[in-house]
This record gives sequence, C-alpha cells and structure tokens, in this order.
Amino acid sequence: MRVAVEERPPVSVEADAVVAGVFKGGELDPPAAELDAALGGALKALVAAGEIRGEPGEIAIYHTDGRLPARRVILVGLGPAGKLDGERVRQAAGSAARAARDRGCRRVALTLLGEGSPGGPEVAERARALVEGAWLGLYRFQAYKSKPDEKAVEELGVVAPAADVAAAVEEGRVLAEATCLARDLTNEPSNRMTPRLLAEAAARLAEDGRLEVEVFDERWMEQEGMGALLGVARGSQEPPRFIVLRYRSGRAGAPLLALVGKGLTFDSGGICIKPAEGMDEMKMDMAGGAAVIAAMRAIARLAPALDVVGLVPATENMPGGRAQKPGDVVRACNGKTIEVINTDAEGRLILADAVAYAARLGARWIVDIATLTGAVVIALGHQAAAVIGNDEGLIDAVRAAGALAGERFWPLPAYEEYKEQYKSNIADLKNVGGRPAGTITGALIIGEFVGEASWAHLDIAGVAWHDKDLPYRPAGATGFGVRTLVHLARGLAAGAAG
Ligand code: BES
Ligand code: ZN
Ligand code: MN
Repeated sequence: MRVAVEERPPVSVEADAVVAGVFKGGELDPPAAELDAALGGALKALVAAGEIRGEPGEIAIYHTDGRLPARRVILVGLGPAGKLDGERVRQAAGSAARAARDRGCRRVALTLLGEGSPGGPEVAERARALVEGAWLGLYRFQAYKSKPDEKAVEELGVVAPAADVAAAVEEGRVLAEATCLARDLTNEPSNRMTPRLLAEAAARLAEDGRLEVEVFDERWMEQEGMGALLGVARGSQEPPRFIVLRYRSGRAGAPLLALVGKGLTFDSGGICIKPAEGMDEMKMDMAGGAAVIAAMRAIARLAPALDVVGLVPATENMPGGRAQKPGDVVRACNGKTIEVINTDAEGRLILADAVAYAARLGARWIVDIATLTGAVVIALGHQAAAVIGNDEGLIDAVRAAGALAGERFWPLPAYEEYKEQYKSNIADLKNVGGRPAGTITGALIIGEFVGEASWAHLDIAGVAWHDKDLPYRPAGATGFGVRTLVHLARGLAAGAAG
C-alpha cells in the first residue's frame, strides 16, 4: 500500500473515497463541512436523516455522482468534540478504511479528522494517528486461505499540507508496518513459527543494513551458562535459539537500552501440561519476542540517538521425555539457581537468562515484554498491560510512550514483602510465588536477574491477542507494545541528551 500526502483541499481530491468526520450530536468537522458546502448540503442532510449521529466508529456513505472528483464521501463518527484524542483518530481512521475496502475502494484519502475544531491533538500527531489507524485497521492475516479476499486499498492519501505532516505520515507508516510485522509473526501457527523460523525472520531484517542480527544455538547457550533457558527447551525436539538484534546510533558514549521479549513459540505448559481447551492460543506466547523484533526494525529506521539491543530467547515448552520436571533446579547465566516448581511458569525462566545477559552487556535500561501470566487478565482484563519495575522514572517513561501509541500500561507495586513468596528451601529462589499477586511475583522473579540496571517489565498476556475485531485491531494478534517500545527508545534518547 502506498501512502502519500495530498496537498489540495478535500473538495478537489481524486479518490474512490474521501473520509471526513462527524462529532457526536451530528456536527460536521471542518473538512466535512467543506465537502458538504460543495455538495449543496447533502452531508448535513444525511445527518438530519439519522444516517449518522457521530458516535465513535459509526459510518455513513455518500455517493457524489460526479459532483466531486472523489466518488464517495465516507463520514465517520468521532464521538464528543471535546474528547477527540489521537486514539479516537486512530479508531475512526481504522473503521473508515475498513468500510472503504469492504466496498472495493482502492484509493482512499483521509482528511485530518476533527482538524480545525478547538482542542484535540496537533496536526502532526493527528496525521500519524490517521496513517496508523488506517494501516492497522486494514491488516489481515490470510496466509493460509486458499481464496484470500482480494479487495485491497492500494493508495492511502492524507489530505494536508506536506510541510506540516510529511514526517509524521512517514513515521506512522514505519510504526504501523512494524506493528503488522509483529502481528504476522504472532498469528503464524507454531508449526510455521518455530524458534528457528522466528530467528530466520529476524535475520531477514538485517538485510537492509540498518540492523545487525546474530542468532545463537544451544552450544552457545551452554557456553554462556543459560541453564534456565536450556531447562525449558529440554522438553522439545525443536532446538531453541537466542536472537540478538542491534541498532547502533553511531554516537560515542551513547547509553544502551535492552529490549527483551519472551519468544515462547508454543507453550503447552510442559510436564505441568495445560488443559486442551484454549491451548491453541498458546502459539501467541512469542508475542513479546515479536514485539521486540518488530520494534527493532522501526527503531533502526527512525534512528534515535541511543544504542538499542533486542534480545529474544526463543523456545517451545513441551513435555518430551527429557523435559524438565517439577522440583528440578536450574542455574541461570548470572549464577543464581532456580527451583522449577511449575514447568508452566517458563517465561520467567527464559527471561531470567535473557535479562541477565542484557545486564552483562551493560544496558542502562532493561525493558522486558512478555505474555507472562494469566493473572494479569484477571487483574486488568483486555484493556491494559501491567508494568512493574525498579525505577519509577522508567515506568513513567513507558506509560508516556504508551500514551503516544494508544497503548495502556497500568502500574502494579513491587513491594519487598512479595519476595517472600518465591523463597526456595533448596535454591536461591523458586519459579512461582503462589496465586496471590501472580503477575507481581512473576515480574519480581525476572527482576532478580537484572543486576544494577533500571528495569521495567511489561505483562501483555491480556492484550497481545483479541478474539473479536476492534476498530484498528482485527481479531488475532494485536502487535501490542511495538509502537510503545519505539516511542520509549526515542523518549529515553531525548531524555539522555537533554
Ligand atoms: N504463557 C502463559 C501465560 C498466558 C496466559 C499467556 C494466558 C497468554 C494468555 C504462561 O507461561 C503461564 O503459563 N503462566 C502461568 C504461571 C503460573 C504457572 C504461575 C499462569 O499464568 O497460569
Ligand atoms: Zn508461557
Ligand atoms: Mn506457561
């Protein structure tokens, strides 16, 4: 799909559809009002006839019959005028783009929804949100359909002065493309996205020269002493991989940010096997790893002034004959021992080795992202990821980055007392802390391996996957976290410079 800036007024845009907004109560936004004037009040008449009231996500379509160069006007509901933010723009753009595609439109032009009304996001943010919303809303995963739906939007236009929006449009495109890459990796079934195939997908990203990718095998893990990762991998015939992606800013003395993603390509639970019902969804247990791989791609393109390393420990968790067993003790690469009480608490084991490795690389900040616990779904449902860490400043930076992306991160406390819950009788710690505060103890176990680094853990188990369509998140993998991680890298770079 091509994305272009259209430097002309909405009434002279040539397209299969031009999209404009309607606020709650039926007030047309300024671009819609311009179109309405050129159409002799036809759009106001649609509102008066009750075709659209301006509720978020509502759509009404007007055929121009040659009265404008655009064949259709698609009106989209924006909700209350005073509450228009970037996220609403993203949602409206997603709904409108999908409505256009469903009707066979190939060229779709988006006006700056809500532009010219008081309040709301500034022009550049609005333009970025438009492109993200439309691109993400148009996403489909059709790799295994013999008869894929061939309707496709080929050209997406943003109707605005290029000087104001060109950079933001390009940024939106890079961010949306990366998010869709993460969705693709996550939607792939586990027989098509093994650790080796995930590593190959990451390695392909190095081809454009802006990222360095290295892939390590079991022998390397043994040399590095990654007993916790190897312990999880034992139960599977598929060999594990440790994926390292590097973006170098080229600045002397630039601080290092490590992004660490859980790359569990299938989580059966291991010997503590999960129930059959819903087990298929555990192909998405590498969503954190996919988010890191995809974020690294976007970071390399947007080139912030800090160094970033992406680490993805990738393995299956299976109950094979050589699988680790409850009660086994493993040693992570920083020397700490872990008693494996429950083999289904495997994410913290592979992340223990990966964050310890990040600390050894000298990372100033370590941010890990993982579908870590079912408990986070109990705490926050599907509306927010949890964030836990050892540095309030970093947690605030994550939340601010999330706000730019329309991704919510809700903080949970890291009180010392929780650590009692995962004391082991025979090892340094055990891998579960019981049912109370399961998301917190899971996080704090990872935190035992970060050394002196500033650290934040993002539990995305409730938000990485949706069963039903949302405005710009079709059912399936959401790509949650990609855009936040990229904004975080840029925010930390700006903070470190200033
Ligand atoms: N991958 C799961 C967590 C998960 C649950 C992800 C639901 C996505 C949706 C994780 O490895 C797991 O099995 N966690 C256990 C931990 C428990 C054994 C301490 C859980 O949450 O039940
Ligand atoms: Zn898991
Ligand atoms: Mn598990």
